[in-house]
Amino acid sequence: MQTAPARIRPMRAADVPAAERVCDDAFYALDLATTPPSLPAPSRRTPERSATWITRTTRLVESDPGGTWVAEDENGLLGLATSLRREDVWCLASYAVAPGRQGAGIGAALLAAALTHAEGCSRRMVSASTDPRALRRYHRAGFALHPQVHLSGEVDRDRLPRVAGVRPGTAADRPWMDDVDRHHRGGAHAGDHVSLAERGDLVVLDDRGGYAYASPGGVALLAATDVDRARTLLLACLAGAEGTFEIGHVTDANQWAVRVGLDAGLAPYQSGFLGVAGMAPPSPYLHDGALL
Ligand SMILES: CC(C)(COP(=O)(O)OP(=O)(O)OC[C@H]1O[C@@H](n2cnc3c(N)ncnc32)[C@H](O)[C@@H]1OP(=O)(O)O)[C@@H](O)C(=O)NCCC(=O)NCCS
Repeated sequence: MQTAPARIRPMRAADVPAAERVCDDAFYALDLATTPPSLPAPSRRTPERSATWITRTTRLVESDPGGTWVAEDENGLLGLATSLRREDVWCLASYAVAPGRQGAGIGAALLAAALTHAEGCSRRMVSASTDPRALRRYHRAGFALHPQVHLSGEVDRDRLPRVAGVRPGTAADRPWMDDVDRHHRGGAHAGDHVSLAERGDLVVLDDRGGYAYASPGGVALLAATDVDRARTLLLACLAGAEGTFEIGHVTDANQWAVRVGLDAGLAPYQSGFLGVAGMAPPSPYLHDGALL
């Protein structure tokens, strides 16, 4: 039986719950196919993670209507690509096609639609999975692919040096935080701070040399003006760990974070790629997986 052609159109707020299901289906299938037996077995998103995805994506539909797209046929939603544009940087936030419909060009059409939103931006970023279909698409769209390390485990508190000069951040810190982000990636995080603050608490350096969003389970985003300050911030995040702590998205340009994580007793493994165009991987900088 021949499958009906897909139609590509802008995403609407009402599409977001169905898009979340497609996204979870696609990543669960990918995880089942690629997770080595030495790692914990893949699982579906928790209801909390699904709700977070829906809230964040609904915000992107509002803030970036030109960057959020779906593919559908007469049976329903088949795929999505959501992206955001912040000053001079464009970022791909989520990208997935339903498992039964992959490899037939739907992803290419979705990415082309999302990239229309990048016109005029000189820098582009995507945090990529290991799916060869995704990597082909990104490479063909002009992205250079940089492998990432992920560190995970229980923090050995006895090995953590004490750090000073770190405090909770407030909205008053935003202007200098924006400047740090402009330096690293060409654009402030603007309204995305609302979604980032739901991933972790904002911690900043007293001297305005960096900030991070961290929870007891991991660090979501870290940006600093130099490696010593980045190290101090990451140590402060590790000091708040409870149970398993995750440091993700560590590119080769951020070896300092591998060292801090290993010294704290975490285990490293390879995990996906950072794709960049018009820029080098930022450093010292640990990006958020979706909002980069
Ligand atoms: C990544 C994804 C969105 C791409 O959508 P898609 O509809 O599968 O993509 P397309 O069919 O347009 O392109 C896939 C490319 O990979 C190739 N391909 C297809 N099956 C493949 C396979 N098993 N291995 C390697 N390459 C393959 C296709 O030939 C095509 O390349 P080409 O255009 O150079 O010929 C989709 O595969 C997906 O949802 N993957 C799981 C979730 C994921 O990893 N998302 C990306 C997050 S960063």
